[in-house]
Amino acid sequence: MTNKITELFKIEHPIIQGGMVWVSGAKLAAAVSNAGGLGLIGAGSMKPDLLRQHILKAQSLTTKPFGVNVPLLYDKAQEQIDCALELGVKIFFTSAGSPKKFTQYLKDKNAIVAHVTSSPELALKCSDAGVDAIVAEGFEAGGHNGREEITTLTLIPQVKKVTKVPLIAAGGIASGASILAAMALGADGVQLGTRFLMTTESSAHDNFKKLLLTSLPHSTQIMMRKTVPVRLFANTFASEIKSIEEQFTGSELTEKLNTHLGKYRAKMGMLDGDLEAGELEVGQIISSIKDIPSVESVMKELLSDYQKTLSQLPHTI
Ligand SMILES: Cc1cc2nc3c(=O)[nH]c(=O)nc-3n(C[C@H](O)[C@H](O)[C@H](O)COP(=O)(O)O)c2cc1C
Repeated sequence: MTNKITELFKIEHPIIQGGMVWVSGAKLAAAVSNAGGLGLIGAGSMKPDLLRQHILKAQSLTTKPFGVNVPLLYDKAQEQIDCALELGVKIFFTSAGSPKKFTQYLKDKNAIVAHVTSSPELALKCSDAGVDAIVAEGFEAGGHNGREEITTLTLIPQVKKVTKVPLIAAGGIASGASILAAMALGADGVQLGTRFLMTTESSAHDNFKKLLLTSLPHSTQIMMRKTVPVRLFANTFASEIKSIEEQFTGSELTEKLNTHLGKYRAKMGMLDGDLEAGELEVGQIISSIKDIPSVESVMKELLSDYQKTLSQLPHTI
């Protein structure tokens, strides 16, 4: 397929693997790019030195375009961006912060910039900041989430209404049928996180992947609604957070949560495989994923399911 997104990133299919802390290193990003999508190294969990190693490794694993996702809520964002630019990275997906912060800086260095947003209002800000593409991420998505709690089905047409910037839909997409639905709503491309977490190339711990095979539709929950909303697998860590949220308010709540989270809970859960004490970020669509294949077979399945669903659509209703 050729469209605004494939042309912008010079890729074969408008399918992007979302940046994921502790999960999307060089191996995953390169595998997605080699399969014709766009792989992103998730810089959020990497110090600049480690990010450098992952970029060099990805460059050795693929000659296709790949990018770096930089969440702007961490204090190392500027260093991460400079490190990636220095190594010749030309595609940046920024998130969790203002699109104004780095878009012009990156555009001045001839980079392509996409920014992740969770509401039509924020999408307008992205467009004003001059981004090349907008990722509109619905409330179903794994990881950090918008406070507005707008679902993908509702968000995409509303973002489409307020801006003409190429649009990438994210949140709850893990099949060819859902890619087709996103395109029908006006998206030019899609970003998948949870589906790519469940592949052999992701660096999520095997314990975590195997636990996720048992997921039910209600296995994920949004936690920390009042501070930094995040969609998690409901385990012991999530219950502890819930209990802190029930007991405290205001600055005391923030302090207690920071102390609890300050113990590298996300690394403990997703990379080291501690399924109870660790934080396990994952999207709501996980309950429909029942395998851990290679990236190549995920891509093949997405493309064939897209074609099959398209051919079976009723012509009238
Ligand atoms: C384990 C995990 C970690 C994530 N970490 C990040 C991150 O570091 N930066 C970011 O912009 N989005 C992050 N996300 C969101 C993904 O990039 C993507 O937009 C989202 O997963 C799409 O929704 P889905 O999970 O329903 O496919 C994360 C998602 C997951 C599941």
